[in-house]
Amino acid sequence: MLNASVTVDPAFVVGPVRPRTFGSFVEHLGRCVYTGIHDPGHPTADADGFRGDVVDLVRELGVSTVRYPGGNFVSAYRWEDGIGPVSERPRRLDLAWHSTEPNWVGLDEFMRWCAKSSVEPMMAINLGTRGVQDALDLLEYCNVPGGTHFSDLRRANGAEEPYRVTMWCLGNEMDGPWQTGHKTAHEYGRLAAETARAMRQVDPSIELVACGSSGSGMPTFGSWEHTVLTEAYDQVDLVSAHAYYHEEDGDLASFLASAVDMDRFVDDVVATADAVRAAGKHTKRIQVSFDEWNVWYVNRAESRPPSGDDWPVAPVLLEDRYNVADAVVVGNLLISLLRHSDRVHAASLAQLVNVIAPIMTEPGGRSWRQTTFHPFALTARHAAGEVLQVAVDAPAQATAKFGDVPVLDAVATHDPATGDVTVFAVNRSLTQDVTLDVDLRGFPGLEVLEATTLSNPDHTWQATADDATSVLPRANGSAALTDGRATAVLPPVSWSMVRLGRA
Ligand code: AHR
Repeated sequence: MLNASVTVDPAFVVGPVRPRTFGSFVEHLGRCVYTGIHDPGHPTADADGFRGDVVDLVRELGVSTVRYPGGNFVSAYRWEDGIGPVSERPRRLDLAWHSTEPNWVGLDEFMRWCAKSSVEPMMAINLGTRGVQDALDLLEYCNVPGGTHFSDLRRANGAEEPYRVTMWCLGNEMDGPWQTGHKTAHEYGRLAAETARAMRQVDPSIELVACGSSGSGMPTFGSWEHTVLTEAYDQVDLVSAHAYYHEEDGDLASFLASAVDMDRFVDDVVATADAVRAAGKHTKRIQVSFDEWNVWYVNRAESRPPSGDDWPVAPVLLEDRYNVADAVVVGNLLISLLRHSDRVHAASLAQLVNVIAPIMTEPGGRSWRQTTFHPFALTARHAAGEVLQVAVDAPAQATAKFGDVPVLDAVATHDPATGDVTVFAVNRSLTQDVTLDVDLRGFPGLEVLEATTLSNPDHTWQATADDATSVLPRANGSAALTDGRATAVLPPVSWSMVRLGRA
């Protein structure tokens, strides 16, 4: 048994809990769109062919924004292929995923799905094969009320009111050599700046995300952000970061410490953005949009696109099945994002359905929650008010990748409106319980409202369509509060939430 203490104090506010931290991502990739959110033959499908069971799960997950339509897909995408009568839409080669894009779902359908799912769209534009003019046309279609070619086209397509999309990603992973239309930092920075400047002439209220690095391991990481922001600082609001983690070679200890890497990644992006700010004598600060993050077993066969003459529609791709340890890491990555709420102003769990996703579907059949669904849904529901910086005192755990890391990681939120405090914590030990001791003397009069833990003696357990409920977050009966100190026993490889308030 190990002991760890966490001190929570109302004075140490990091920033607000931002709803956009709980964003996700729908890409035209594999079965995310087709047979994922869209499945006209499904018994719950609506007039657009969108699955009602998936909409219900998206709502339960608590997703705020949904980034669309890619990802790598967007870098050769012609958005106007996806508007107008479905029967007249072209079929295209999707170079990113070696698939055929039938364009059965496009912009207008996606906007209707967003309204139905109560999520905010976050649009990505193609800066791989396209540029300023196409971005302007798309923005005009989305945000101009009417009286111009593209806004009237939208109205003719059935959307009288503009969509008023606020968040726009200026391309996707343009630092990656795999990206169609990949660019150097200088080329991309200039294009991003000019595209952003022109887009703001159409709609000054938009928020623009420049592409940062597609991973902290990229050889250009750091210098990419520096060059891009030097070119585009005044024109953009946020810079993106992407990170995927997986257990490699059975090294569970390092995998469970993935949030250490995310912490460093955010700190490094912020430092680089602030260095450009200082050198350029800018006043505003560039914020971080962590608009792709998750566990992804990128080397598994499921992640290999088709090849040769095989260009299927909606093939099975990136359909990772997540286990309990994966869910603990997802919960820990959310802890990392929350503790950076001062500078991480948006984030997207990549992706939403079937493709490295918390929600899975059978074509025409069942849908279910993966293990990773639960920490996301509970954090989205119960993180409220302000994020508090907590002082963690925990024994070290040795890891091959990150050296010694604290065996326990935690963050807390405090809602001044209700007085509630919620502590989110992970026990990264592979074998030992951790007794968590939370010093809450700064919050007199609280009681434990709920303590919930996700763990399993077999951390490799995965949810399936046949059994998605044997392992769920369960009440942690060990939680107690005495003299301003809450205690709970957290099992090995576990994610927990302790909610405190006035009953
Ligand atoms: O989310 C899967 C892929 O990962 C996205 O298309 C791309 O942006 C990233 O490399």
